[in-house]
Amino acid sequence: MSMDRDDVLKESICILPFLHLFVRTDGLVAPCCISDGWDISVNEGDIDDVINHPKFLELRKQMLNGEKPKVCDICFKNGHGMRNDFNNLWERITGKNYVELSQELVDENYNISKLKSTDLRFSNLCNFSCRMCAPIYSTNWYEDAKIVYPNHVVNMDNKSIKIGDNFVQKLDKHTNNLNWVYLAGGEPLIMDETFQYLNQLLPNAKECEIVINTNLSNLMYKKTDILELLSNFKNCHMVVSCDGYGEMGEYIRTGFSHEKFFANVKKLRDLSKTKYHSISFSFNFTISIFNVFHFFDFIDYIKQEDLFFDNVMTQWVTYPYHLSVGNTSEEFKDKVRSFITDNIAKDTTLTQKIKDDLNGFINYLNVFEPTRTEHNTLDFVKKLDVLRNSDFRSVSPWIENEIKSI
Ligand SMILES: C[S@@+](CC[C@H](N)C(=O)[O-])C[C@H]1O[C@@H](n2cnc3c(N)ncnc32)[C@H](O)[C@@H]1O
Ligand code: SF4
Repeated sequence: MSMDRDDVLKESICILPFLHLFVRTDGLVAPCCISDGWDISVNEGDIDDVINHPKFLELRKQMLNGEKPKVCDICFKNGHGMRNDFNNLWERITGKNYVELSQELVDENYNISKLKSTDLRFSNLCNFSCRMCAPIYSTNWYEDAKIVYPNHVVNMDNKSIKIGDNFVQKLDKHTNNLNWVYLAGGEPLIMDETFQYLNQLLPNAKECEIVINTNLSNLMYKKTDILELLSNFKNCHMVVSCDGYGEMGEYIRTGFSHEKFFANVKKLRDLSKTKYHSISFSFNFTISIFNVFHFFDFIDYIKQEDLFFDNVMTQWVTYPYHLSVGNTSEEFKDKVRSFITDNIAKDTTLTQKIKDDLNGFINYLNVFEPTRTEHNTLDFVKKLDVLRNSDFRSVSPWIENEIKSI
């Protein structure tokens, strides 16, 4: 049976190239944060030259012709992309069908005139140096990286990577059209550019939804009360990264203070209930070889602290391979699979969303083909311990004998 044109377009269109701009810390642009990248820099020319760059025009044309562009293989071929999520998001925001919306937003030459959505990583400025992270995301990683990842910093003149000067001003002419803004980094809540941008967005704040991925180390920026500023927007969802409580959290996320973090989360919880109803939050737990057996303890802890509702998302380290559970032996992965399956069966209070995420993780363990690593896991962990005056044995003792580098 042949598909009609509308069915073909439903399969080929992602709404993002028709309204969205994603910019990495080095100023390079891509269709979205998980697609392949392009060599287009936001520092070359006007913002309209960027959003109507020939690569964008070709991408829109291909999608509107029912083709599935190669740069978006992650969604079309590997099936673990975000196309459906974003198409649904924009149907909710505009009340329009995404296929019709995509056609409405382009002219006959596939140009767009309005930017409605941004995902900006202004710089790699960060006050943490989480062990699974890297110097391209964190200035605080630079010194250690010179020793443990010399290849990562070989092309970096100094520890800072920035989109470029005056970028926020360049976006000014589009700020009135923006309906969805995502901020990450580095740590967005310690960057000047974040506050410059949020202030620039204020006149249109009631039309604009904000999502911020943050380590929540700060609720004040200079004299700005961050939650008060964010409460001006239509809504704001804070995706709060936390990879464990107590010693585990402090070990993985170097710079994280358990006490300060949970005081901030409780303040966020309380104010979002009482004063800033438009602000919500969820935890983001990144699973690595360090904390894979800590997840259910973390859930118990946040329940005990009255911080648990349907608000824990998981993601997992696939890279660097030497810190990824997927890259361990079948024997170790079996142990992890049983641990997760047994705990899911035991804990009747887990939400379906958390169970689905964990089953997604097990599925990743099943299909991931281990890759030879440049770094031996145990050597790497020990080297970093020496630099940071820490000892993995007190939080993740299994690394010593159960994780063998491939
Ligand atoms: C790079 S951080 C930037 C935003 C902010 N600084 C934070 O920590 O939330 C974004 C997310 O990536 C996660 N992350 C860091 N290194 C990762 C890795 N190697 N693989 C997968 N996720 C990682 C962090 O835990 C965090 O949730
Ligand atoms: S806080 Fe975020 S950006 Fe900073 S080191 Fe940790 S994961 Fe990386």
